[in-house]
Amino acid sequence: MPTIRFEQEGQQVGCIEGANLRKAALDAGINPYKGLNNLNNCGGVGQCGTCVVEVVEGMQNLSPRSDVEQVYLADRPANYRLSCRTSVNGDVTVRTRPQGGAGAGSNSLVGAIKNLLGK
Ligand code: FES
Repeated sequence: MPTIRFEQEGQQVGCIEGANLRKAALDAGINPYKGLNNLNNCGGVGQCGTCVVEVVEGMQNLSPRSDVEQVYLADRPANYRLSCRTSVNGDVTVRTRPQGGAGAGSNSLVGAIKNLLGK
């Protein structure tokens, strides 16, 4: 059973292999969203880019970055992930709501459209 360690919250939870990272966080009472994004998010369908986590350890135990993540996280570090698009296959340590994770650059509607258009 994989273990997810939420570094900032000092919590660790077990999950089934292939668990959705966002859902595992929410089930554990951990909020993946910052500020107004608590109200203004897509509910986990990969359309808002606001559920960003930073992977501290165990990147190899997560599903590969999806096409949606490639767009929303184009100008973010490689260890930033959209938690709703990420499956957990082994032990991992993550940092929720990382600095610069959401709300600017490619991680906004305008930025995502620019990336899609290659501008
Ligand atoms: S919750 Fe909207 S992209 Fe993850």
